[in-house]
Amino acid sequence: MKISVIGTGYVGLIQSVGLAEFGFDVVGIDIDETKVKRLNEGKCPLYEDDLEELLKKHVGNKLKFTTSYDEIKDSAVIFLCVGTPQDDEGNADLRFIYSATESIKNQLDDGYKILVIKSTVPIGTNRKIKELLKDYNVAVVSNPEFLREGIAVYDFFNPERIVLGFENLEYKKPIDVMKEIYSHFDNNIPFIITDWESAEMIKYASNAFLATKISFVNELSKLSDEVGADIKIVTKAMGIDKRIGNKFLNAGIGYAGSCFPKDIKALIKQFENNNISPKLIKATDEVNEEQICWFFNKIKNYYNNDINQKIFAVLGLAFKPNTDDLRESRGIKLIDLLLKNGAIVKGFDYVEKARENTINRYKLDKSKAFYGYNLYILEDLYETVKDADAIVITTEYNFNNEDWEKIKTAVKNKVVFDGRNILNAEKIKKLGFEYYGVGRK
Ligand code: UDX
Repeated sequence: MKISVIGTGYVGLIQSVGLAEFGFDVVGIDIDETKVKRLNEGKCPLYEDDLEELLKKHVGNKLKFTTSYDEIKDSAVIFLCVGTPQDDEGNADLRFIYSATESIKNQLDDGYKILVIKSTVPIGTNRKIKELLKDYNVAVVSNPEFLREGIAVYDFFNPERIVLGFENLEYKKPIDVMKEIYSHFDNNIPFIITDWESAEMIKYASNAFLATKISFVNELSKLSDEVGADIKIVTKAMGIDKRIGNKFLNAGIGYAGSCFPKDIKALIKQFENNNISPKLIKATDEVNEEQICWFFNKIKNYYNNDINQKIFAVLGLAFKPNTDDLRESRGIKLIDLLLKNGAIVKGFDYVEKARENTINRYKLDKSKAFYGYNLYILEDLYETVKDADAIVITTEYNFNNEDWEKIKTAVKNKVVFDGRNILNAEKIKKLGFEYYGVGRK
């Protein structure tokens, strides 16, 4: 079976290599000529475990990339994986969805095709896409993705559930084809076969629920700080209760990345567009936006509100470990706040591409060019902490594995602000460090 995948971002590229690995003939379509050329040379534009390896394995055999929508003509199934960024008002911007739909439409004839929407789209979008294609023999299927950056290839091959939304459950053909495509996964993986709207909502509901768990513990962490409780112990005890579960209960400086912040904001808009006040989900968003400011103030208070010319070693640039993605990164937001208040920042990330992206980000932003004088991005952790007034941890890498005896001799002052509650506080304190976590001392 020949399959086309439109969009070669995180979702589309992983979908393409994954389907090629299953043995399908896959064509990846993207409007970016340079990217397409590089992909055909086996060069991966993203930092993601195992992705380049799989790309190299299949490109030129089961997999090719093109800018031409012509390839759709003889594809039985088309996966739509274009981005749905946030617009100025917080809505999902569907520009790319509709322009790709138009390009697909131009290639359609009388033949039967299945168009699968993998992009995260507001509830009702699959119905609108079908309406645009109503004159053609096309089944539209909603099939949201649940890939976590950094382990997205693993997640593709090991999904916890496959969600499929159809126009009409009586009509078996698209259901059978989708089941056949996904039959390569383990038999025990649950299929949720439902209508379009429920499938679309599952994606938003899942992300919003996880984000709410995070904001819930982040809100508690502020009280924990005031009353002298340890949020890490509180959440550990909470998580033992199976009804609560221990995942996504780590207090920190907030969620970030390409999905949670934008999807939560888009969900809020969908409530408002339907004249319902989204109280809880709005609070999730507000708590998240505030958390990094609260943490920054905690740092500032330590210095009696004057951090001018203080040197901070910020460990973690990307929004989470094992990625180069800076989108909504709390580390970057914190760097901005530190620089704005006159501090000197030495930034570090284990991922080279994350360091490169940070360098580019600050260089490209002309209005913030002066930051360059006060910001250094280093590739060695010990160089980064050298002469620092304080270390600030912004991503969940296990920094406990570093040589803290060596760090101790490198820093100017033994002060750590742990924005991810990742360090073994007792051990750090025994070495003479002052330790300040999120909701724990
Ligand atoms: C997320 C969803 O997990 C995935 O299913 C969806 O398809 C896309 O969005 P991702 O953006 O890769 O994936 O990030 P994830 O690992 O879920 O973490 C999101 C953010 O939450 C990170 O910034 C992380 O630091 C933060 N987080 C996570 C916490 O602050 N505390 C936690 O306990 C867990």
